[in-house]
Amino acid sequence: MGFPHQRMRRLRESEPLRRMVRETALASSDLIYPLFVKEGTDQREAILSMPGQFRWSIDRLITEATDAHRLGIPAVMLFGIPDHKDERGSSGYDPNGIVQRAVRALKDRVPDLFVVTDVCIDEYTSHGHCGIVQDGRILNDETLDCLRLMAKTHAEAGADMVAPSDMMDGRVAAIRDELDQGGFERVPIMSYAAKYASCLYAPFREAASSSPAFGDRCSYQMDPANAREAVREVRADVEEGADVIMVKPALPYLDIISRTRAEVDVPVAAFQVSGEYSMIKAAAQQGWLDDSKAILETLLSIKRAGADLILTYFAKDAARLLNAATS
Ligand code: PBG
Repeated sequence: MGFPHQRMRRLRESEPLRRMVRETALASSDLIYPLFVKEGTDQREAILSMPGQFRWSIDRLITEATDAHRLGIPAVMLFGIPDHKDERGSSGYDPNGIVQRAVRALKDRVPDLFVVTDVCIDEYTSHGHCGIVQDGRILNDETLDCLRLMAKTHAEAGADMVAPSDMMDGRVAAIRDELDQGGFERVPIMSYAAKYASCLYAPFREAASSSPAFGDRCSYQMDPANAREAVREVRADVEEGADVIMVKPALPYLDIISRTRAEVDVPVAAFQVSGEYSMIKAAAQQGWLDDSKAILETLLSIKRAGADLILTYFAKDAARLLNAATS
């Protein structure tokens, strides 16, 4: 029975009815707010490629995180910007490194805020790669030792969850083993399971000065052309012990989010990355689109595709908009 018996517009006539038949709802509790932390005090350094985002010193990070928490955002994700970088990214697994100290301070001052840490050495290596480099190649198994130490020092500092983003094979199993041996069996792992070699990380790399000094990340991050391979990556990480898996970037990869959601039963996270943020910001600054609407529509779409958790630099804006809509 088609038209005229069936009229799709009937259910769209009024706002109360549209609300009742709405299939997807975005909530501030879905959001994780990524933050950059650097050395120093009273620092709030603008990231030029990401208007509205900053590199925070630990004292200012606490204020910003408290603000986010008050808005109803349950979690933050920390990225460290160290003063010193070397070949092996050793400042990343220093028990007194920038992220380790930031975690301790956050857990001390804002204990109810859930703190996730990014586990990857690229922000700490002089060459900017996510692994140990030898003769121009990125070594896999040698890198696992660094990742183990990094995850362990984060857990010791009080991190509530660790999130490996390096794309080395076997890192989830290695980190799980290290955490369990250290008595951190209750700390979950959110793995960046399907992480694509995307141009959309460019603003992040400016923020963290982590562009690879040579070559690119194509020998470890995924080819944007591949979808079946994402399912293999995700399954492998779940088998190795990942508690939550992530797809990244988000908006250009909604098919991957949706497919992943159908393939595994663990919670799925999606990362609306720096380039996705900056594209919306840039267009809004030109007056070409309304950023409030773009924020809510893109996040809702990511949720509709199947993401349970969304990492977004818009977390505070989104929470404010959602709170205003419900009050
Ligand atoms: C690696 C890492 C990156 C991002 C998150 N973790 C950068 C990269 O892979 O080059 C990108 C996040 C973003 O673009 O917002 N530590």
